[in-house]
Amino acid sequence: MSTPCISFNGIQHIFPGGVVAIDHVNLEIGQGQFTCLLGPSGCGKSTLLHIAAGFQTPTQGQVCMQGSPIQGISPQRLMVFQEYALFPWMTVEANVMFGLQQTRVPDCQARERVKQMLALLKLREFADRYPKDLSGGMKQRVAIARAMVLAPPILLMDEPFAALDALTRRTLQDELLRLWQGAGTTILFVTHSIEEALYLGTRVVVMTHRPGAVKADIPLDFAFPRQTSTPAYLQVKEQLESLVMAEQHQYLQAEAAG
Ligand SMILES: Nc1ncnc2c1ncn2[C@@H]1O[C@H](COP(=O)(O)OP(=O)(O)OP(=O)(O)O)[C@@H](O)[C@H]1O
Ligand SMILES: [Mg+2]
Repeated sequence: MSTPCISFNGIQHIFPGGVVAIDHVNLEIGQGQFTCLLGPSGCGKSTLLHIAAGFQTPTQGQVCMQGSPIQGISPQRLMVFQEYALFPWMTVEANVMFGLQQTRVPDCQARERVKQMLALLKLREFADRYPKDLSGGMKQRVAIARAMVLAPPILLMDEPFAALDALTRRTLQDELLRLWQGAGTTILFVTHSIEEALYLGTRVVVMTHRPGAVKADIPLDFAFPRQTSTPAYLQVKEQLESLVMAEQHQYLQAEAAG
């Protein structure tokens, strides 16, 4: 493989108080890959994303982007959270514009890009609304628009659609796939849903229970849009179900043992 877009090399993270969240995480992610991370609750998925975003420094190991160690946060690696994290005092348009105003993109170009992104995510008629006047699905659209308008090479998404109803979730999944295919962004996407991982990913990484490490790494070579009932697809689904169930079982046993 050529230099990976992002690589996790021997990552360990111990929180103050002694919780070993992740240990020995080694993972290489190629340019433009859509990698989904699955694993039991508390296995360190969010911690891994926070480390990749630069919010946290691992207690051991190194994350590299294009072969160079990352240092702190950067517009090259943007994060989209489950809980939207919009600025409540700004309109939709201002929220999407905000990041661009911190860059050197000239104002008229920035406005044009925001306009295009609002159109792509079907937000044009909501441009002047405030987050409190939007549904959960709309808020998540704004959060995605806000990140994608900056055209980051890497997008880190932490269960971004978990709080949405099934129909809105599917619509946003399709919109995200469209944006990803158009922009060639490298995406690392955490989900609890095997279906979601299979629908979106070019690869699924299953993590062990805490301390999280890579348990299985499965390429998904199915064409988009995904045909969800072919024998090959169902076979991978079964494989993932048994991997995740086994880890979940061990996680519950470990919890019960204290
Ligand atoms: N700031 C913190 N201080 C101490 N322990 C923490 C902190 N943040 C997370 N942890 C612990 O580290 C472990 C991993 O947490 P993390 O949030 O990364 O898991 P996760 O896989 O994202 O879980 P979930 O699926 O529930 O979102 C958990 O046991 C959690 O309780
Ligand atoms: Mg989490």
